Amino acid sequence: MGRMDKRVAIVTGGAGYLGRSHALHLASEGAAVVVADLADGSSVVEEIKAAGGKAISVITDVSDEDSVQGMVDATLSEYGRIDALLNNAAIVNGIQKPWTDISTEEWRRNIDVDLTSMFLCCSAVFPTMKAQSYGRIINISSGTVVLGFPNFLHYVSAKSGAVGFSRALASEVGSDNVTVNTIMVGLFPHDLPGIDIETVTQQCVAMQAIKRVGLPEDLSAALTFFLSEDAGWITGQSIAVDGGLVRTGG
Ligand SMILES: NC(=O)c1ccc[n+]([C@@H]2O[C@H](COP(=O)([O-])OP(=O)(O)OC[C@H]3O[C@@H](n4cnc5c(N)ncnc54)[C@H](O)[C@@H]3O)[C@@H](O)[C@H]2O)c1
Repeated sequence: MGRMDKRVAIVTGGAGYLGRSHALHLASEGAAVVVADLADGSSVVEEIKAAGGKAISVITDVSDEDSVQGMVDATLSEYGRIDALLNNAAIVNGIQKPWTDISTEEWRRNIDVDLTSMFLCCSAVFPTMKAQSYGRIINISSGTVVLGFPNFLHYVSAKSGAVGFSRALASEVGSDNVTVNTIMVGLFPHDLPGIDIETVTQQCVAMQAIKRVGLPEDLSAALTFFLSEDAGWITGQSIAVDGGLVRTGG
């Protein structure tokens, strides 16, 4: 028995570096997984199926209301319910720049994809979760929010919004047995064009209590916990999973 048996989980950004790992892990815990990404998630679906799990890929632009509704319709048509939503999609490539170099267009796009998407996805899944009297939502934020990391102002602003969004939404949906929590993700280095990943990695590992680089699997236990029945009495919370990079809480 997995902790997500008979559950249906949507993972936005599920074709990405961390999203792939999250999708595989939730499937290994028994969930039927919807890999929702602007990019093609079919290879993630194949990996899940090869391991004996269930998954579909739905090309989705999380910043577009109609596209998000399409993601929900496809999920319901395939699996008939939605138990868990992992709002993980974000613009991560090419975002490192001094704040004076961020154009208004870039600012708006980041807020749209990284924050407004959470509103759109939560709004689209909520009627189903309410009808089921069951739902688990995680919004992915970032340790940069607490650190006030320089040169990511649009990103940090959107990810800060995710923390308040989760807390306030939790207050409004708790009576429908829907929980909303935030995971403040530390540094999980991978090839990110436009980011000086070596320097950022050195800075972060030096600040971490645990002096090694984070691996995607380091996030799996927290994700499954907050998306499972086990965490039914925990909502509106932020937890950092970051090797002790941030030690002040969200
Ligand atoms: N990797 C890290 O060090 C780190 C640190 C802190 C927070 N995070 C957060 O973790 C999450 C995953 O990051 P990652 O490192 O795997 O990055 P990634 O770029 O590998 O994954 C992001 C995914 O989001 C998708 N995406 C982008 N725009 C989209 C849109 N409009 N609609 C649907 N999908 C879209 C991309 O196609 C990609 O697959 C993000 O929310 C990121 O902010 C990552």
